Amino acid sequence: MPGDAPSSVRLRRLRRTPLLRDITAETRLSARELILPIFVRPGRGAPEKIPSLPGVERRSVDDAVRLAVAAADGGVGAVLFFGLARRKDPEGSEAAADDGPVARAVRGTKSARPDAIVATDVCLCAYTSHGHCGLLRDGQVDNDATLPLLARMAVTHARAGADLVAPSAMMDHQVAAIRSGLDREGFPNTAILAYAAKYASAFYGPFRDAADSAPAVGDRRGYQIDPRNARDALREIALDIEEGADIAMVKPALPYLDVLARARARFDVPLAAYQVSGEYAMIKAAAAQGWVDEPAIVRESLGAIRRAGADLIVTYYAREFASWERGAA
Ligand code: PBG
Repeated sequence: MPGDAPSSVRLRRLRRTPLLRDITAETRLSARELILPIFVRPGRGAPEKIPSLPGVERRSVDDAVRLAVAAADGGVGAVLFFGLARRKDPEGSEAAADDGPVARAVRGTKSARPDAIVATDVCLCAYTSHGHCGLLRDGQVDNDATLPLLARMAVTHARAGADLVAPSAMMDHQVAAIRSGLDREGFPNTAILAYAAKYASAFYGPFRDAADSAPAVGDRRGYQIDPRNARDALREIALDIEEGADIAMVKPALPYLDVLARARARFDVPLAAYQVSGEYAMIKAAAAQGWVDEPAIVRESLGAIRRAGADLIVTYYAREFASWERGAA
């Protein structure tokens, strides 16, 4: 052996066979830990393709329910519904509608598969004509005026049967507002999956095509976290936990593994990470060219997110991953 390295240490011993590697692996990854985002639109008809998100579609309520049930049948842990508006306005009036696509998709899924775990996104950006995540006053997002609306939206989803509501607007104190709204309206058991550390990221581009939610003026840097910061993200997570978040999320995932790892070391709540639209689209595009091995790169990416500390991963790959897993079994 070179130098003074102890000759008894041979790290390759446990790498010799697939089974040895399996039983000594530090992290595991299965479809159970994955959450599938589903876009629900008003109206009927066939799913609409989204060019920048191959394999993801905007679905009618019936189709969304079918997909949610199929995902649950396939072993995916949960689904996360995103709604689209029929008609947007500056107040995002449709966001808290009891007969909106999200509330209907939740009810449909829960009546078809009561044990399926259903989460809903709580944010105004797909419902406002200006595309911002909160209400505007004098061209600025009015944080506190937005809070009651987010709480009403969450209560609507809870009433429809959502297990988890997922506020993603990045308004200060949105978790407290939603928690007290839920408790006041008789939903103390609806859990909050807080998008606590949500960055102002270019990786959301394809999602904004899907939800038609790009801000018409300005950008989201006035409320989402600056990508240069990590401590700021830890403060966001601490605050959300204090306000009653049951699960805290970091988003995007792969470019922010440092934040995830630091959050894992510091907090004891379950952590989620969101492999966002841009992360998904880049893999899809490279795979379509034959430049990367898609299942291998997805497994490695999701595995890295788990290793960094995520208990749960929101990913557009959830269903495909589940089917690869079944194929391998
Ligand atoms: C809504 C929201 C966004 C995403 C999830 N919820 C977009 C945004 O903040 O602009 C992005 C998800 C993705 O890119 O897959 N605020």
